[in-house]
Amino acid sequence: MLIENGHTIIDATDGELASGLVGKGRMEEPENIFTRISDFFEQPKILKNKKVLITAGPTYEQIDPVRFIGNNSSGKMGFELAKQAQYLGAEVTLIIGPNHLDLSGILNVIEVKSAEEMFIEVQKKVKKSDIIIMSAAVADFKPAVKSLVKIKHKTSTLTIELEPTQDILKYIGTIKTNKQILVGFALETNNEIVNAQGKLKAKNLDLIVLNSLNDKGAGFELDTNKITVLDKNNNIDKFELKSKSDVAVDIFNKIVSLLK
Ligand code: CTP
Repeated sequence: MLIENGHTIIDATDGELASGLVGKGRMEEPENIFTRISDFFEQPKILKNKKVLITAGPTYEQIDPVRFIGNNSSGKMGFELAKQAQYLGAEVTLIIGPNHLDLSGILNVIEVKSAEEMFIEVQKKVKKSDIIIMSAAVADFKPAVKSLVKIKHKTSTLTIELEPTQDILKYIGTIKTNKQILVGFALETNNEIVNAQGKLKAKNLDLIVLNSLNDKGAGFELDTNKITVLDKNNNIDKFELKSKSDVAVDIFNKIVSLLK
């Protein structure tokens, strides 16, 4: 109710409680309360009344009850984007795969595991979103059949048949309206700009954020990133190596320039 009316809540945090129990109920640290309040009053709410949908993190595709196909994405980039969007006054939904982040600062978080679950949650939110940013490292393939029991290692070789997952970003590109801004990510190892431009067109994006694995300091598990942003008007902006929170600021500056 309070949130619906536009209020911001500084929620209780997890930890050891006065009762000796451990759980949610601790008062937020005074310095964090101070930061949240000063941030609130300083922020230029350029994205007020805008709904922003962000995907982040890896997806896990189960092989059997104990094994999965996944990747090293930490979800940090998407998390920083969600924080920045909130800071700019947007109503943010973060759909995130398995992660170890403290997501308590983000109001609407939907945690998912597989590409299929992520797709289901995206479909529920996408039509009402003004800005959609797909930073998740979605698995491109999943096992064609998931074994219901743990696969024994008796045989000397094991072949797992894989089938493609739904390309969520491509799907959004087919249904998006001209008023919606769609941002994709591209992780490339070679012919980076050409490949990213190809994805921008093929997936009907407004912006694509390119990460090159050839750049030191850019990557899945790090706190830093080095990006190049390409837009649908053929502009190419190269940025220096920065913290992921500063990279999120750069990405939103670019998005805001497209809104004008
Ligand atoms: N993506 C997605 N659904 C998938 C795979 C990827 O929505 N099943 C999105 C990612 O969130 C990212 C973008 O597509 O925004 C690019 O992912 P990437 O793996 O770099 O590109 P692909 O299109 O999968 O092409 P390729 O793997 O051949 O480079």
